[in-house]
Amino acid sequence: MMKKSILLVTSLSFLVTVLFYSCKKSDTTPAPAPDPCLVGATILPVVSKTHTITGQSLGTITVTSPIGSGYVYSIGSTVFQESTNFFSLAAGNYTVTVKNAAGCTTAAAVAINGYGAKFYAVRTIVNGYCGPCHLNGSVSGGKNFDADNDIVNSWDRIKIRTVDGSPTFMPENGQLTALDKQKILDWVNAGHRITD
Ligand code: HEC
Repeated sequence: MMKKSILLVTSLSFLVTVLFYSCKKSDTTPAPAPDPCLVGATILPVVSKTHTITGQSLGTITVTSPIGSGYVYSIGSTVFQESTNFFSLAAGNYTVTVKNAAGCTTAAAVAINGYGAKFYAVRTIVNGYCGPCHLNGSVSGGKNFDADNDIVNSWDRIKIRTVDGSPTFMPENGQLTALDKQKILDWVNAGHRITD
């Protein structure tokens, strides 16, 4: 009988203690404020870019997302700008940082490649005249030219279709200027590599 009541008292006081502390805890500890940088700024930067001739500064980076009022942008320095465009970039690795109106930042690594001058000319022609059919994921006649290696690996077909026009000229429904055909020919004759 004695043992039972001791046990009862002990368990009761334990219960009271637990209730007291759990109550006290929730009363005195405020709920943490949500971190505005985790709520609003988790959109990673997305960019489009053009590359450069090795040793020159012709590269560009354009932030395509997130954009809109309140966002500012930087590439590797503490200076932020409202424009989404960065020009005159040398080959190298850049960190594109986006800051929103609350001061929260996200960042992405962006590489600008260095090309040989002749390949740079060909890459520029392809970017200008081979879309939308062969660019941004589109495949025509089994060819997509998004990656530099796609151009390098198709150097012979690109020359045959744009310079020789056999069986028909590319771009479809048109032809490159004599000057641009010559640039493709110059690259092919130099060895058709990225470094040419
Ligand atoms: C308006 C759409 C369009 C544009 C622009 C275009 N092409 Fe094409 N291309 C096609 C289509 C459609 C085919 C498949 C039919 C064919 O081969 O004629 C094709 C096929 C090709 C092929 C693969 C066939 C082969 O002969 O090996 C190559 C290489 C090619 N194009 C190169 C180019 C290049 C280089 C440019 C830019 C200078 C270009 N094309 C611009 C639509 C286009």
